[in-house]
Amino acid sequence: MKVEIYKATDQHANMPNYDEAQENLSWDEVEKAFSWYDTGKINMAYETIDRHVHDGYGDKIALHYKLDDDIQSYTFKEMMENSNKAANVLKDIGVKKGDRVFIFMARSPELYFTLLGALKIGAIVGPLFEAFMEKAVKDRLENSEASTIITTSELVGRVPVDELPDLQHVVVVGDQVDEDQINFRELYQDASDEFDIEWLDKEDGLILHYTSGSTGQPKGVLHVQEAMVQQYISGKYVLDLKEDDIYWCTADPGWVTGTSYGIFAPWLNRTTNVVVGGRFSPESWYDALEKLKVTVWYSAPTAFRMLMGASDDIIEKYDLSSLRHVLSVGEPLNPEVVKWGMDVYKLRIHDTWWMTETGAHMIVNFPSLDIKAGSMGKPLPGVEATIIDDQGNELPPNRMGNLALKKGWPAMMREIWKNKPKYDSYFIGDWYISGDSAYKDEEGYFWFQGRVDDVIMTAGERVGPFEIESKLVEHEAVQEAGVIGKPDPIRGEIVKAFIALREGYEPTDELKEEIRVFVKNGLAAHAAPREIEFKDSLPKTRSGKIMRRVLKAWELDLPAGDLSSMDDN
Ligand code: WTA
Repeated sequence: MKVEIYKATDQHANMPNYDEAQENLSWDEVEKAFSWYDTGKINMAYETIDRHVHDGYGDKIALHYKLDDDIQSYTFKEMMENSNKAANVLKDIGVKKGDRVFIFMARSPELYFTLLGALKIGAIVGPLFEAFMEKAVKDRLENSEASTIITTSELVGRVPVDELPDLQHVVVVGDQVDEDQINFRELYQDASDEFDIEWLDKEDGLILHYTSGSTGQPKGVLHVQEAMVQQYISGKYVLDLKEDDIYWCTADPGWVTGTSYGIFAPWLNRTTNVVVGGRFSPESWYDALEKLKVTVWYSAPTAFRMLMGASDDIIEKYDLSSLRHVLSVGEPLNPEVVKWGMDVYKLRIHDTWWMTETGAHMIVNFPSLDIKAGSMGKPLPGVEATIIDDQGNELPPNRMGNLALKKGWPAMMREIWKNKPKYDSYFIGDWYISGDSAYKDEEGYFWFQGRVDDVIMTAGERVGPFEIESKLVEHEAVQEAGVIGKPDPIRGEIVKAFIALREGYEPTDELKEEIRVFVKNGLAAHAAPREIEFKDSLPKTRSGKIMRRVLKAWELDLPAGDLSSMDDN
């Protein structure tokens, strides 16, 4: 297949040369940008917000929040004061350094105030998607022994307080607050806008993102303060953030992209950051780009494919001339999407590859490099990546294997919450094993091939089949269930469930719909199977584990491979 090459333009002329940066970048040097270089102590909320106020940039806009036709803007000074107030509210009710504080809210300015406020106390923040239903909320709070949840009147009903013995504080942002809950807005009104930040060590906790694997419940990936070093430099080099940029990352903070690159990277670089509330539509997104004069835009292949599917008349209605740099993350970026980007935006879409566990960019289309459409690009300067076989041997160019990263980059996760064996299982010697398969070409460009495990990537969301299967078997009609990702032209993959029914249940379309709604209401909308197929029984190993590999082979009409461990009764 012919590879399209898109040359680097002088757009990014002031970017470092890739080879020089890769050779010279030293994390110890980058660290000097932050206060621990002088004081030995650090706090992400200080480095993202307060520092800029002290440096004389208090009046610069830090946040534009847009919801439909309403735009609210806050300067760095206002962000500092609002997050100080939030920190005072949380501290007064008893939140302490190291506590796990979950934030379960739709995107709003208050989400950002409370998140920064919790960080100022030294708490570890656990952001949750607004779409989560009761079981998803419970599993995460329970596993992390969270002390506090900050949520809204609309969502608080999904927090099963009685089943969470460690949960001490239920903070509600909204107008309807029960007696046994803490009324955030009431306390906030009277809270002081000054706060003594808790100074932390580089290795103190920052954020806990729950993410899915192929087995077991979602796991808590813990990042620490030091992550800022890499988030800052990738913001500068890869997002190419400059003094006058207006930057919009479309991801929700429930996903690591929405924190590392929706909060930390832009504000560490003192950039004006855009947050858009409400739902996706081509019109609402283009309206945000136009009205806020966005210059740097970070989104995902699913969104680009949906925009690509919208009619040309729509895009012609908007003035997108402010845009100068576009990036993508989360799934393979198809060459035809890159081509479309060149046609409609007259800009290259820069792919970036990384994971919740890596905390920041790992392999990127570095702005000063040529782009080979379909390739993720090269390792971020300072990062060493390679392809290894299952024994840990490095493979030569063009051989497919495990995409692996040399341990020790600053934003690397430090722990899987309360699960040391799981954490250890990520490593072979000094190599972190990503779970993705890829190859590297002779010029050092990496090409994504697929997941090694059964993790499903649907519309950019990473969903674990196990969590959905567990929910499915809670339904009274379901005997057993196996879940796979089925390739889909827009969403990358969709969730498909194979289900064997209990005796006495008829395989009807109504039942399919009922089961779908059951998962949607019990777990999360994006986890609900878009397709369900009933089977008399499911293929299982002798130990009773459902063989998703066989289900996938059924779906794709492929040979099922080695079935030696399959149960034959
Ligand atoms: C996939 C996302 C192809 C990959 C920040 C990875 C990608 C998983 C890309 C992590 C990309 C992410 N090209 N695949 N540019 N970026 N992935 O933890 O399978 O939600 O292992 O973090 O997404 O997903 P996660």
